[in-house]
Amino acid sequence: MQAAKKIMKVFVTRRLPQEGMKILSAAPECEVSVWDSDEPVPREELLKGVQKAHGLVCLLPDKIDAEVLDAAGPNLKVISTMSVGFDHMALDEIKKRGIRVGYTPDVLTDATAELTVALLLATARRLPEGVEEVKNGGWSSWKPLWLCGYGLSGSTVGVIGLGRIGLAIAQRLMPFGVKRLLYSGRTAKPHAAEVKGEFVPMDTLVSQSDFIVVSCSLTPETQGLCDKAFFSKMKKTAVFINSSRGAVVNQEDLFEALSSGQIAAAGLDVTTPEPLPTNHPLLTLKNCVVLPHIGSATYSTRGVMSALVARNLLGGLQDTEMPSELTF
Ligand code: NDP
Ligand code: DGY
Repeated sequence: MQAAKKIMKVFVTRRLPQEGMKILSAAPECEVSVWDSDEPVPREELLKGVQKAHGLVCLLPDKIDAEVLDAAGPNLKVISTMSVGFDHMALDEIKKRGIRVGYTPDVLTDATAELTVALLLATARRLPEGVEEVKNGGWSSWKPLWLCGYGLSGSTVGVIGLGRIGLAIAQRLMPFGVKRLLYSGRTAKPHAAEVKGEFVPMDTLVSQSDFIVVSCSLTPETQGLCDKAFFSKMKKTAVFINSSRGAVVNQEDLFEALSSGQIAAAGLDVTTPEPLPTNHPLLTLKNCVVLPHIGSATYSTRGVMSALVARNLLGGLQDTEMPSELTF
């Protein structure tokens, strides 16, 4: 007689796209419970839901810290996050407990790079302002300097963090006629050759770039990296774009730089906090374009991400290979 398979308890902190849910519900060894909502699971429900779980599927807004891990208890063997960023997880605590982590690199690179380029163009060419002027009657005539912005042709672009997404952004920007592509990070990247990228010290990148794109991961080193000193070194005509994490930027310093004319404009897909309160000073500025963290938001990308999340989880539960396991 075959031994009965051990049933594994899985807690999923959000309603996922069907691609991922189908895979999880077809796994006979899993007893899946889902926080069945499009909104984040309240903390107390997370702490309750994770109890005795063997697997946890989480999203960016779920802070996975010692309290959650303690609430889960010793059964927990895998955490699968529907994100490539992992700054919402206390990796030291996770490592101590020998828990494996799955994440979603690569599958969202194209979508995020595409959105970053869209945000850069929208910010530099003042698209939201233009749309608003058409609607509110501000469009009186064609005027030589009205709604002028900055173009990429002949420009210098600086990418902070030429990783998967940073490279994909650079690849998309080069065909616009970018003259020089600078990048900064901890290490020079062989793949930079594809975009003729020049590895330069951060100060050089900041002072020479016409467009600065932040696409690094959030770490203790990058937290608050873009502050008063950073903005004061930028050209007055330069445009700042961030699609990494809000905490890389000191938002008070950014507000000051934008409102005083220290820099030309900023486009942010990520902020602190998220959502950004509707009365936040940054939202009063015409030269600041803020998007609600939609870098990877295409239907197909989110579907593929959720399927990868499910496969990572199953690999961890079955003690087999996970398609995208985080090594830390
Ligand atoms: P990668 O790991 O491929 O790239 C991260 C980059 O950050 C690396 O090039 C790394 O450079 C760089 N970096 C790390 N530390 C520093 C530092 N101190 N200074 C400068 N650069 C540094 O990750 P991805 O490209 O896949 O993703 C990057 C980030 O984008 C994610 O961590 C996430 O926060 C964000 N993201 C945002 C999305 C959105 O919706 N807006 C969607 C997806 C991701 P080095 O190797 O030299 O250290
Ligand atoms: C990530 O994956 O880290 C993004 O911020 C959301 O896709």
